[in-house]
Amino acid sequence: MRAITAPLGYSRLQIALHWFAFALIAQQYVFKDAMSAAWDRITEGLEAGFDPLVLVHVAGGALVMIFALWRLVLRARRGVPPVIEASKVQGILAKLTHVGLYALMILMPVSGAVAWFGGVETAAQGHNVMKIILLALIALHIVGALYHQFILRDGMLSRMRPAQG
Ligand code: HEM
Ligand code: HEM
Repeated sequence: MRAITAPLGYSRLQIALHWFAFALIAQQYVFKDAMSAAWDRITEGLEAGFDPLVLVHVAGGALVMIFALWRLVLRARRGVPPVIEASKVQGILAKLTHVGLYALMILMPVSGAVAWFGGVETAAQGHNVMKIILLALIALHIVGALYHQFILRDGMLSRMRPAQG
């Protein structure tokens, strides 16, 4: 179901989910060492042992996926504000970045779970490749946001500001 008329802005919930996902993804990178160490022990045939940060990685990653799917449902049902694009090329680049971000917010947890719960080494390798692609897309996304804010000065950043909900 697609909204007949596009809303003027993102809803409070859409904005909250964007920033919760951002915080969760950031902590996945900041506290990644515990998960890497546990995985190394498992691949060496040792016991992983209990580390709360491993639990945080699994639960945090699962939440990222739930939030991404939730946002996609809201996107389809409620809609999103019309795109602000300075040029066709920039509009396409933004669209590709958003599609990539959504895809990786789903593929990262899936590959991680297949590695962790299924013991599949290739899934861990995929997880490791995608972590770099995700970081690159986030960097591009932030550059895009700053470009809108400081070069185009079109107020796009304020669309993701909590007070605008
Ligand atoms: C958006 C979600 C996720 C992000 C951004 C993410 C990110 C990362 C990062 C940055 C590493 C460190 C790799 C390294 O440099 O050594 C890692 C490792 C790992 N993650 Fe995740 N992760 C996510 C979700 C998950 C989930 C849900 C699971 C399991 C259920 C998981 C399982 C693993 C495993 C097993 C490793 C070790 C792989 C290795 O070191 O080769 N991840 N993850
Ligand atoms: C983990 C980091 C991030 C991820 C995964 C992410 C993901 C996304 C996605 C998928 C969208 C498209 C929303 C939609 O229309 O359905 C979006 C929009 C947006 N993001 Fe992020 N984001 C991240 C970090 C940031 C940061 C750090 C900023 C600010 C510097 C930011 C600013 C924005 C803005 C302003 C929009 C609205 C774009 C528009 O209205 O066309 N994001 N983000």
